[in-house]
Amino acid sequence: MPLLTNIGALARCLPSGPQGDANVIERAALAWEGTTIRWVGRQQELPREYWEWPAEDAGGRLIVPGLVDCHTHLAFAGWRADEFELRIKGTSYLEIAAAGGGIASTVAMTRAADPASLRASCEGHLAGMARLGVTTIEAKSGYGLSLEGELRILGVYRDLALAGHRIVPTLLAAHVVPSEYKDRRDAYIALIIEEIIPRAAAGKLARFCDVFVEESAFSVDEARGILETGARHGLRPKLHADQLTNGGGGELAAMVGAASADHLERISEAGIRAMAAAGVVAVSLPFASLYLNAAPMPARRLLEAGAAVAVATDFNPGSAPSYHLPVAMTLACTMQRMTPAESLKGATIVAARAIGMEAEVGSLEAGKSADFAVIDAESIEHWLYHLRANACVRTVARGSEVWRV
Ligand code: NIG
Ligand code: FE
Repeated sequence: MPLLTNIGALARCLPSGPQGDANVIERAALAWEGTTIRWVGRQQELPREYWEWPAEDAGGRLIVPGLVDCHTHLAFAGWRADEFELRIKGTSYLEIAAAGGGIASTVAMTRAADPASLRASCEGHLAGMARLGVTTIEAKSGYGLSLEGELRILGVYRDLALAGHRIVPTLLAAHVVPSEYKDRRDAYIALIIEEIIPRAAAGKLARFCDVFVEESAFSVDEARGILETGARHGLRPKLHADQLTNGGGGELAAMVGAASADHLERISEAGIRAMAAAGVVAVSLPFASLYLNAAPMPARRLLEAGAAVAVATDFNPGSAPSYHLPVAMTLACTMQRMTPAESLKGATIVAARAIGMEAEVGSLEAGKSADFAVIDAESIEHWLYHLRANACVRTVARGSEVWRV
C-alpha cells in the first residue's frame, strides 16, 4: 500500500481531451495497492484512508505514466554499423536493400541465432528501456520470414511476457519478401496468408498483423489481402506506410480500419484526411527519419486534421538503432513541432491506444496499472528540453520497482 507524496508535477495523460493537455496536477500524491493505482490527486486533498499508508517523498520531481514504446523490432541478431557508414557516404537505404543488405542481412543473422541468445539480447534491451521509464512495448517479428522463423521470434516474445514483461506482439511476416522467394513473391504471400497468419493466431502468439508497404517490400493490394486475412483471424491491422515513398499507405490504413499507421514521412493530404476520419493513430518514428536523413512525419498537419499522433522508437538494427524513447520524444518536439505535452501523451496514452492497451496503461488514473516513472525534472517541458543520458530516477511497473538510481 505505498504512497508517493511531494510530487512537484504529475502528468495524468488522460485519454479524453486534446493531445496538448497532459492533465498535470501540481503538488500531487499517488497511492497504489498491489499492481493497481488507488488514488491520484492534489496532495492536500488526499482522502483520510490513505493518511496512514507508508509514504515516500518524491522530492518535488515529475511523475509520468510508464512510457509505452508502441513500435519496436525488439528481437534481432547482429548490428549493421557498416550500413550506417555506407549511408553517410551516399548509398541510400533502398540501394542497400536492393544489393541484398538491410533487412535481408538481419534476417540471415537472426535465422542463425538460437532462441536463448535472442531472448538474452531482448532482455538486455528491455532492462535498458526500463531504466528510461518504459514499462510497455510493442514488439514485431519480421526477421524470420518463414513459418518457423516468425513463430520462433513470437515465441521469444511469449516467453518474455510470461516472465513478466509487458510486451504486445505483432506479426510482421510481411516485412520484405525473403531472397529465396525473390522470383516467387506470390508464393511467399500465400505462405503468409495460408500458414503463418493462421498458426500465429491459433497459438495466440500475436495481437496485430503489420505490413511494410513500400517499393522494396509490399504493394497496397498485397498488403490489403494480408491485413484482411489477419483481421479474419483476430489480428488487428497495422502498417509501415509512406516512409520512403508515398504509396497511399494512409488511405489503406483507413480502409482496413488499422489500429495505427506508422512512419508516414511522405503521407499525402488525402491520406491525412482519411486517417483522421477513420480514427487511425499515426505513429511517428523520429529516429528513422533522423538516421535516414529524411523529412519527418508532418505531425502538426496530422494533429490539426484531428488525428492522434503517437511517438515511438522503431528500435531496429537498421533505420533506428536506439531504444531511447525520451530522446525520440525530444526529436518529435524539435523536428515535428509537437509540444512537450503532445509528445508525452504520444508516448503514453496515445501509444497505448495504438496497441490496444489503453484500458490498462498509458495514464495515471485510479483502477489502472501502477506503471509510472519518476523524472528528475520540474516539468514535462524541462525534461524534454534538457537532453541528458537519463533523467528517469525510478521506474515502477505493475506496482513493483524495476529501476531506481
Ligand atoms: O521500421 N521499415 C521497415 N522496417 C524497419 C527497418 C528495419 C530494418 O532496417 O531492419 C523500420 O524502419
Ligand atoms: Fe518499424
